[in-house]
Parts: sequence; structure tokens; C-alpha cells
Amino acid sequence: MCCDQSKYTQNNTSVIKKINEIASFVEGLNLKTHEELEDFKSKYKNKSGVLNSLFNEFKNIPNNEKKEVGKALNDLKNTINKKLNSFEANNTTTQETISDDLTKNTLSNSIGSCHPLSLVENQIIKIFSSIGFNLSEGPEIEDDWHNFTALNTPEDHPARDMQDTFFVQTNPSKLLRSHTSSVQIRHMTENNPPIRILSPGRVYRNEAISSRAHCLFHQIEGLYIDKNVSFADLKKTLLFFAKSFFGEKSKIRLRPSYFPFTEPSAEVDVYWGLKTESDYRITKGTGWLEIMGCGMVDPNVLKNCNIDQEKYSGYAFGMGIERIAMLKYKVDDIRVFYENDIRFLNQFSAQL
Ligand code: PHE
Repeated sequence: MCCDQSKYTQNNTSVIKKINEIASFVEGLNLKTHEELEDFKSKYKNKSGVLNSLFNEFKNIPNNEKKEVGKALNDLKNTINKKLNSFEANNTTTQETISDDLTKNTLSNSIGSCHPLSLVENQIIKIFSSIGFNLSEGPEIEDDWHNFTALNTPEDHPARDMQDTFFVQTNPSKLLRSHTSSVQIRHMTENNPPIRILSPGRVYRNEAISSRAHCLFHQIEGLYIDKNVSFADLKKTLLFFAKSFFGEKSKIRLRPSYFPFTEPSAEVDVYWGLKTESDYRITKGTGWLEIMGCGMVDPNVLKNCNIDQEKYSGYAFGMGIERIAMLKYKVDDIRVFYENDIRFLNQFSAQL
């Protein structure tokens, strides 16, 4: 019994020594990666790990020694758990955030802003809504009828060359609309006069991309159909728009032009000025800048939409939003509108 006891005592001393050695080894470990963590768990913490097998051995320890060995074992268990906790604390963000000031803003608030093209579009819409124009929109993938034929531009008409069009390869009767005039047809077919609409949207043309042209741009179409609408009404409306948009002192001029769907047709210029060298460059030495096409709706177009051309007349106009935005913000390269360079866009963040 005595011998047995001493045997146990010897055994137990070496067990405690072994446990303490393991504990100090664990304490000295520096777990850096998740792989190291997993390795550590399987060696020390898991079912077949060191801690468990020591606890299994614990059964064989005589009762009077159990207290000492048990304490050493519990210390080792705590050391192992501490190691695991400190790894978690250093490697999980939740832990970091929770130990942080909970009232602190984690992200700085950066609020988005309207794109300059939207700002200009919204301003144009606001001006025309104030004189009774409503919005009407149409699809960007159009058919030949709405984009060309109904607009008095039948197949093989040379005026189709004015707008280099993208056709859908798998269905050549479909195309990406080359202007928002297609919405005139859609609206007049479905509604009776009086009609007073504004149609903003994207249009597509097969243009070589340069500082002045892009294969995608935006237009706003205006259409007014009623009894006794005259060219003077058109001119008055456009002057009202120019003054509202560019300032009370603005001047406009109308130059005769040609569009198949309006007769007579005109191009509208606003007076830009000729004070600086860049005014000369932008206006090609004239002081005037073209902003839109317009004219009286051709009676053939009314007929194509089943509107009585004896009873009704009207005007239409179409302007490029990029062109107007370039004038307003003095931007001399159209491409910046599509690059989404935050340094460019941030300059408009103060505006709604
Ligand atoms: N659709 C013409 C264009 O894109 C502009 C226009 C619209 C002209 C309405 C006259 C009337 O060039």
C-alpha cells in the first residue's frame, strides 16, 4: 500500500510536471493564422486532444491526489481557452466593434448626388411643365415604323442617312431608337389632341466617339398638337425656354433646316457671346450655338397617327441634353458624362 502510494505520488508528480510543461508551452504559442488555430484546437482542445486524454487519465489518480492534479488540469484548461479567446479577439471584426465605442460612426456618410445630365433634364422638364407639358415615354428598342416610316421617312428615303442607326442583328426590323421623335408617333397614335408632351430619353447612333459626339446620348422631345397652332407659338415657346434656362437676356435665332417629319423645319441657336478666345472656338467664330431642331409637324405624320390634319396642326422640337449640359457647365468633352469619374461628378453634389 505504502509502495503503491509512493508510486502514485511519483506518477502524480510527473503528471503535474507534464501538465505544467504543456501549460507553459501553450502559453508561449503565438497563433497567427486560422490554420494554426485549427491545428491548435485539434492538438489540445478536441476530443482526441491532449486535454481530454489527461482528463481521462485523471480517473486513475488516487483520491487524495486528485485535488492537486485536478487544479493543474484546470489551469491547463484555462490556459488553452485563454489562447483561443485571444486569437478570436485579435481576428474577428465583431469582437473589435463590440469592444469599440458603440455610438461611433463606423463609416463616413458620403451621399450620392444627381448626375449633371439628370440635373439638366430635370430643369428642362420643370420649365416645360410650368407651361402645361406632360411626360410621355417610349421604348429604346424601337421598330422601323415608329422611328422612321411613320415620321415621313420611308425605307430608301435619303434622310435615313442623317442618323446612322444601330439595327438589331437577329431582328433587323428592330433598332435602337436614333431619336426621341419615335415617342411622338406612339403618343399621337394612342391619344387624341390636344396633345402637349415632353419625352426625355436615351438615343443611339453609330457615330465615331469624339469630344463632340457619342454613340449614346440623351434627347428631350417636345410635341404640341391642337387647333390653330402656328410657327409663332413655337418660336414664343422656345424663347421662353431659352430665357428660363440660360437667363433673361438670352437671345435665340431660327435657321431654316430640313427634317422629314416637320415642315417648315428649323434649327435653333442661342447666343453664347464672343468675348473670349474660347467663345470663338466653341461657336466657330459666330457667337451662336445650335441647341435643337424643330418645326411644324408634317401633315403626313398626323395622318400616319390617324389625326385629322385638316383640323389639327402642331409643332415639335428635339434637343440634345448633353449639348445643353455642355453649354451650361462649360464642359468641352462629351465623354466625361459617361466616365463616372468621381472628381467630375462631385462638382455637382451641391445641386439637386
Ligand atoms: N429628331 C430630330 C433629331 O434627332 C430633332 C427634331 C425633333 C427635329 C423634332 C424636329 C422636330 O435630330
